[in-house]
Amino acid sequence: MASRISLTQYLVEKQREKGLIPAELRLLLEVVARACKRIGYTVSRGAIDGVLGEAGSSNVQGEAQKKLDVIANEALVEANEWGGNLAALASEEMDHPHPIPHRYPKGEFLLLYDPLDGSSNIDVNVSIGTIFSVLRLPEGVKEPAEEHFLQPGTKQVAAGYAVYGPSTLLVLTVGDGVACFTLDKEIGSWWLTVERMSVPEHTREFAINASNARHWEPPVKRYVDELLAGREGPRGVDFNMRWVASMVADVHRILCRGGIFMYPRDNREPGKPGKLRLMYEANPMSFLIEQAGGAATNGHQRIMEIVPTQLHERVAVILGSKAEVERVTSYHREQG
Ligand code: AHG
Ligand code: MN
Ligand code: MN
Repeated sequence: MASRISLTQYLVEKQREKGLIPAELRLLLEVVARACKRIGYTVSRGAIDGVLGEAGSSNVQGEAQKKLDVIANEALVEANEWGGNLAALASEEMDHPHPIPHRYPKGEFLLLYDPLDGSSNIDVNVSIGTIFSVLRLPEGVKEPAEEHFLQPGTKQVAAGYAVYGPSTLLVLTVGDGVACFTLDKEIGSWWLTVERMSVPEHTREFAINASNARHWEPPVKRYVDELLAGREGPRGVDFNMRWVASMVADVHRILCRGGIFMYPRDNREPGKPGKLRLMYEANPMSFLIEQAGGAATNGHQRIMEIVPTQLHERVAVILGSKAEVERVTSYHREQG
């Protein structure tokens, strides 16, 4: 049998041979991966263990929480708070950052996550996942507060996601390309299965929730209309559409075979800049996509350069194959 590379070996090599990550970050990523393993197991137990359905509560954004949103959030807190490498954690499911309890040592990293992405797919057995982003606590800060999380995505030192689908996968970047690991459930190891994921520059596949079409702004409407017109339209070729409604699954498909994913701003709630959250959905996914050769924008600005003003801030997201992302961006520019 050809020798396999585990997540541990991959990270040790990034630390030792390339000096790309400090030991503390390696350990932190292993702890996150272990928590994802546990969440994946819980997800797979489904109705047998009674983990499907509503939790009966709602999060800071007013969204009804599913039981698994709450369970996954707790699994990540429990796994990470004692490790000594984190200064604080923040999550979609917690109003404010979770401080590291005084009984544990504090580290220099900040972890942000969407514990369960694709909540609407939980009860129908469609792929869901966990998204995470790691930042450094700004130098000289002793007591981490919410404001210290408000760093642009370019400051991320690592990002990734787990997908709980037909296989359980972990996709990771530490700023040196994007690697994919598959969970070997018998042994409990994450094996490196794709060393360097790469998003093709061109694509004929797009992902958008078309039920919102009547609310879109003109540049997005124009772009999607052209795709829908296919061979008979200005693009002269047919395009295919896919929408899983779990960002992890849609982004994973794009990392595998290209495509463009859009959750644009729309006019349903004019004050809202989009649906997806900048700090624990858009930024980590943008880091991964850019590391794999793709692009990510809100239509006007590179997502990773946006300076956040709120922990749970929302943003328009257009990401994936470069040539298509650039085309949508040019339509926004023309519109002014
Ligand atoms: P979450 O489950 O963490 O709230 O995120 C759901 C997000 C994202 O995963 C997906 O792309 C999008 O919401 C789906 O939205 P629609 O239901 O509007 O299609
Ligand atoms: Mn999400
Ligand atoms: Mn979520």
